[in-house]
Amino acid sequence: MNEIKEIKIDLKDNSYKIFINDDIEKILINSIEKILSRPRVFIITDENVAGFILPKIKKIFEDGGIETKSIIIQSGEKSKSFESLEKLIRELLSYKIERQDTLIALGGGVIGDLVGFTSSIIYRGINFIQIPTTILSQVDSAVGGKTGINLEEGKNLVGSFHQPKAVITDVSFLRTLPKREIIAGYAEILKYSILGDKDFFNWLEVNQEEILNLNSSLVAEAVEKSCIMKAEIVEKDEKEKGKRALLNLGHTFGHALESKINKDGQGILHGEAVGIGICLAAELSFKMNLCSMENKEQIIKIIKESGLPSHITDLGTEIHAEEMIINFSLDKKRKDNSNTFILIDDIGSAIIKDGISDDYLKSFMISNGFK
Ligand code: GLY
Repeated sequence: MNEIKEIKIDLKDNSYKIFINDDIEKILINSIEKILSRPRVFIITDENVAGFILPKIKKIFEDGGIETKSIIIQSGEKSKSFESLEKLIRELLSYKIERQDTLIALGGGVIGDLVGFTSSIIYRGINFIQIPTTILSQVDSAVGGKTGINLEEGKNLVGSFHQPKAVITDVSFLRTLPKREIIAGYAEILKYSILGDKDFFNWLEVNQEEILNLNSSLVAEAVEKSCIMKAEIVEKDEKEKGKRALLNLGHTFGHALESKINKDGQGILHGEAVGIGICLAAELSFKMNLCSMENKEQIIKIIKESGLPSHITDLGTEIHAEEMIINFSLDKKRKDNSNTFILIDDIGSAIIKDGISDDYLKSFMISNGFK
């Protein structure tokens, strides 16, 4: 891929660019000097990425005269905890990190959220760069400045808005991922099309198989389109006072499923939970007469065809509606003691719907396979 795609997120003093290509060396050589305050970086990554991608990145930095120190943390959602946060901060302090240094979050959503949060609080805030290595992080979590950790009560309950200095995206990294993770990340791309762009949805219907087979130029196009859509929303509503909530399509059901299933130790990937969440949002939109039966069926069809789970029964485990309701009570969109969901009134058009009662949701979920 010759051209480096560049997307600007315009947030006044916190503006930055997303760079997309299939050659990280090309992007770094072109951009890194302008982004760093001084030539020293702390690369934080996980065990999965440390094997193949980390040595390559370290060499590019060091060949360019940039001093590096790497810290490898345990892979998996468990690392998004207070315990890992404290451990990471203490390790950085032991290396005598200074305010002008830059943290590099090299990995998926867990690394991005943990490192982003760390950089927002260490010395009351230092610079960081996102180098996302999964589809999910390339199109969503690395973009837009949400950082955070989980509590036992639920996901992302503690965090901050802290924008990176750049997002550097190499779509060739996706070839290192298992197919299951590629499909899961793809749920976030589908999400953008469903919430805001019918033409993109139609394009995905045609190109889905090639994207999931990682055809570089189509993946880069899908990542670029998703990032442009996210940038437009974040520019209008950085701190999620309104429109940014649309990006949570499928996530209220999704987070509740993740909290329940991952607590029981069975394991569901974020994108898989979002896939079911989007189908439930489509069902709920239809039930509330917001969208047509045809819209609902088209959405469920594309999710199914991508290989994502589309119904609670695909999980082979019983989930109680009551447990979901308990989890909804911690949703950040909740207000005045009732639920807010992102629903759809057409393909490419999502709305924020407040005031949905627990009882209504409970009977809806029971008629959709929950106990
Ligand atoms: N992942 C949703 C957002 O960044 O707002």
